[in-house]
Order: sequence, then structure tokens, then C-alpha cells
Amino acid sequence: MLKKPEVFPVALASERVLDRRRFLCAAGGAAVLALAGEWGAKRAEEGSQAEALALQLDETPLAVGEARTVTATGGAEALVVQVDASTLVGFDRRCPHLGCPVLWVKEHTRFECPCHHAAFDARSGEVLFGPPRHGLRPARLVTKARKV
Ligand code: FES
Repeated sequence: MLKKPEVFPVALASERVLDRRRFLCAAGGAAVLALAGEWGAKRAEEGSQAEALALQLDETPLAVGEARTVTATGGAEALVVQVDASTLVGFDRRCPHLGCPVLWVKEHTRFECPCHHAAFDARSGEVLFGPPRHGLRPARLVTKARKV
């Protein structure tokens, strides 16, 4: 007597369960890795933001709305701007997106990156619009002591 062949759909159904399980395991693992990567990138960003540039300024005053490029101790360039009569700010010139030098645009009263059209707030350096995920790195401004 001939043996009855195994019914194909039964084997196929059990294979689908295994595939779904493998898929869910892989998707779960990928999600965990993505979250870990995002968390690590955020921590790295916070670390780079925490260290401000130290700038030595001479005592030549800036007019309101005027900007000056200053080289920091480590060689990085920064922009110093007299935003109003009592507010002098300074930020690293490198755009946090891909590193193009940002410009001070007096007419718009903000920093702008010409590479991908980002804009940053004049007082805080925070992103107003554009691709950067965080604002400009602030500079700590130190006025040079006058020698007597
Ligand atoms: S490098 Fe500045 S927006 Fe892309």
C-alpha cells in the first residue's frame, strides 16, 4: 500500500510561524540598536555643547549690530556680535550640521549658514530653521586686561 503524502499546507503554516518569530526577534533587536545609537549620539552632542570656546577680546567696542571674527585659543573661529547696547554674544563659527562657516546677517538679526540655509537665533544660537539638530556652540567672552 502507498503511503499518503504529507499535506503541504500544514508544513507551510508551521514555517510561517517560525518566520514571523524570527522577523519579530530581528525587528526587536534592530529597534534596540537604533535606540542605543540615538541615545549615544545625543550624549555625544551634549558633551560637545558643554565645552564653550574661550575668546580673548580686545577692548575695541563694536557698534550695535556689528560682528567681528575672533580666533579662539585652539584655533577655532568664532563670531562675536553686539546684539544690542548691553548684549555681546559669541559663538563658534562652525555650523553644527556639516561645519560650514556661519555668517552674521545684520538685516535679519541672526546667524545664517549659506550651505544648507539654516538660521540661528542671535542671542541663544538655537536653531531657527534648517537641517542642524542643535544650535551653535557658545563662546565664553573674556576681555583682555589692560596693561598699566
Ligand atoms: S552646513 Fe550649515 S546647514 Fe548644512
